[in-house]
Amino acid sequence: MKEGLGHASHLFRMAGLFVVGLVLFLVVRSLLVPADFGKYGHFRAGALADNREKPVVYAGRQACTDCHDEAVTRKAAGAHAGIGCETCHGALAAHADDPAAGKPQRPDPRVTCLVCHERNAGKPSWFKVIVVEEHAPSGPCADCHAPHSPAVG
Ligand code: HEC
Ligand code: HEC
Ligand code: HEC
Ligand code: HEC
Repeated sequence: MKEGLGHASHLFRMAGLFVVGLVLFLVVRSLLVPADFGKYGHFRAGALADNREKPVVYAGRQACTDCHDEAVTRKAAGAHAGIGCETCHGALAAHADDPAAGKPQRPDPRVTCLVCHERNAGKPSWFKVIVVEEHAPSGPCADCHAPHSPAVG
């Protein structure tokens, strides 16, 4: 009997280590996992409040229509109809809330337009692209294309 147990003693040591490891894991886990974790799902419930408190920076498409009739109407008639104003103009919630606080900067077409229209291998073949060095090596794109309704003529 004694002899049999002697042979198995390394197994008891291993099981002991396993139990110690498990207890250690449970203790550390209970210290690290926030109290409100799992309240609504596999996430920290407080993360919802944290996100809610972030300031809203985009005004959304609807906001611009209240004050910029002309741009809205022009854009709706051209190839850029589907593109949101803030895609080109950047986040403007602060401006929409309080236009008196300052005039937003106009986007530089040579930067903004090329984000979408400069040819590169990643763009689908149906999408209209240019090679800017050949098409318009210098000067503003807006000399020929109205940004809100970009077809020429
Ligand atoms: C509550 C009214 C209001 C809202 C909403 C509003 N704007 Fe304006 N916006 C103005 C006023 C007023 C000016 C200043 C016009 C001026 O000084 O000529 C202005 C100026 C601008 C300018 C600069 C124009 C220039 O001549 O350089 C841009 C660009 C602009 N707004 C874009 C936007 C966009 C995009 C939105 C939607 C996210 C928006 N605005 C929402 C009232 C508004
Ligand atoms: C495809 C990019 C793009 C989109 C989308 C866009 N704009 Fe513009 N917008 C420009 C650029 C570029 C200028 C500056 C043109 C210049 O400097 O001649 C501009 C100028 C303006 C101006 C100054 C006055 C004028 O008409 O030139 C206003 C106001 C304006 N945009 C409002 C808007 C609003 C409102 C929307 C959404 C309905 C919108 N924009 C959508 C690129 C865009
Ligand atoms: C966010 C991406 C985006 C930006 C920025 C953008 N465009 Fe476009 N543009 C489009 C899409 C989408 C179309 C429509 C699809 C197409 O015709 O290939 C288009 C179409 C066009 C066309 C073809 C017009 C037609 O009627 O066939 C011209 C020209 C053009 N854009 C010029 C410009 C200029 C100039 C600027 C900068 C003021 C600009 N684009 C900025 C996405 C963009
Ligand atoms: C001197 C006038 C002029 C300037 C400046 C200019 N374009 Fe054009 N662009 C044209 C004309 C004209 C067409 C139509 C040509 C055609 O049908 O192929 C055109 C067509 C386009 C097209 C559609 C291409 C296609 O496959 O149908 C895009 C996109 C475009 N331009 C973007 C730009 C951008 C971005 C800039 C600024 C970097 C710019 N253009 C500057 C005159 C100009």
